[in-house]
Amino acid sequence: AAITATLIPGDGIGPEISAAVVAILDAAGAPFKWDKQLGGVAAVDKHGDPAPKPLLDSITKNKIALKGPLATPIGGGYRSINVRLRETFGLYCNLRPVRTLVPGGRYENIDIVLFRENLEGLYVAWEHYLNIDGDPHAVAVSSGINTRAGSKRICEAAFEYAVKHKRKKVTVVHKANVLKALTGIFLETGKMVAKDYPKIECNDRIVDACAMELVLNPWKYDVIVTTNLFGDILSDLLAGLVGGLGMAPGANIGDGAAIFEAVHGSAPDIAGKGIANPLALLLAANLMLDHVGEEAISKRINNAIDAVLNKDNIRTGDLGGKATTKQFANAVIKRLK
Ligand code: NAI
Ligand code: MG
Repeated sequence: AAITATLIPGDGIGPEISAAVVAILDAAGAPFKWDKQLGGVAAVDKHGDPAPKPLLDSITKNKIALKGPLATPIGGGYRSINVRLRETFGLYCNLRPVRTLVPGGRYENIDIVLFRENLEGLYVAWEHYLNIDGDPHAVAVSSGINTRAGSKRICEAAFEYAVKHKRKKVTVVHKANVLKALTGIFLETGKMVAKDYPKIECNDRIVDACAMELVLNPWKYDVIVTTNLFGDILSDLLAGLVGGLGMAPGANIGDGAAIFEAVHGSAPDIAGKGIANPLALLLAANLMLDHVGEEAISKRINNAIDAVLNKDNIRTGDLGGKATTKQFANAVIKRLK
C-alpha cells in the first residue's frame, strides 16, 4: 500500500537533489506518495514563516517526511527551523550513520552509526547574561538538562538498532569525569539499559578521548550513543572520516513522527547549476525506507549506488567526477533495472 509522505524540496540545491531522489525511488518501486510542502526561505516568500502551518500540518498528518536543506533566513529573528521541527514533533533520536562509499580516501571500511540525543542537554538553551558594573554581557550562564527518561529512550534506540542490524558493540560517550551530574546521568542510564541487552557489548568513552580515537583508529567503533552537543560535534567528525557532509544522511525520529534529511546545507554557491550531489538525500531516503520496513528496496538502492560510484565510476564534482545531478541519478536508475 502507498505511504503518503511529506516532501520538502527545500532551498538552494534542494529542488534539484530531491527531484533526482524521487526519480530514483520511483524506479526502485518505493511505496511513497509525496505531499509536497514549502519550507525554509521558499516558505518565507509565500507564507512569511520558514516552517509554515501547512508544512507542520502535513507532517502531523503523514508522520513521515523527507526534507531537503533549508536555509535559515538571515535577520528577521527566525530560530533554526531544524531545531523547531525537532521540538514540535518530539524527535528525540538523531541517527547519523556513516560508511565508506568511495574507497581511496584517508580511511577505508568505515561503518559507524551514531545516535545523538536530540532534545536535551545544552540545547535546551536556558541561557542568560548577567549585567555587572554596566557591562550587560559581563557573564554568560547556560543550564543543560538531561533527564533519566530522555537518556533512557535514546540509549534504548541505540541498543535496539544494534540488535536489529546485527551490530556487536555500543559505546556510550560522555564527560562524566567533569560534568558529573549532566553527563553522569547519561552514562549511568546507558549502563542500566545495557543490562537488558546482554548479547551486545557495551563500553564507554570520554568524549575528548573518543574524538582522538575516531581519528586514529575509527574501526574500533560500531554504534555510538551520546548527548546532544557531543553528538552534534562527533557526527560531523564521522562525516569527515568518509569524505564529508556530501555523503552524510541523518534521521530525526520521535514516537509520533520522523524526518529524514541530508545533513549538508542548501549550497547556494552551486544552486541552479544541476551539479549537486544527491547522494546524502538519497541515503536519507534509504533510512526512510528502512524505517517503514522496506529494507529490501533500500538494499537494492545501496547496491546500485556502490556500482555506480565504484564500477561505472560515475560521480559528481564534489567526489572528483564530472557527472551532473541528473546523470548520476540516471546511472543509479539504470543499475536498478
Ligand atoms: P552547505 O552544506 O550548504 O555548503 C558547504 C559546501 O559544501 C559548499 O561549498 C557547497 O557547495 C558544498 N555542498 C553541500 N552540499 C553539497 C552537495 N549535495 N553536493 C555538492 N556540494 C555540496 O553549508 P553552508 O554554505 O554553511 O550553508 C548554506 C545554507 O544552508 C545556510 O543558509 C544554512 O543555514 C543552511 N544549512 C541547512 C542545513 C539543513 O537544512 N540541514 C544544514 C546546514 C546548513
Ligand atoms: Mg551539526
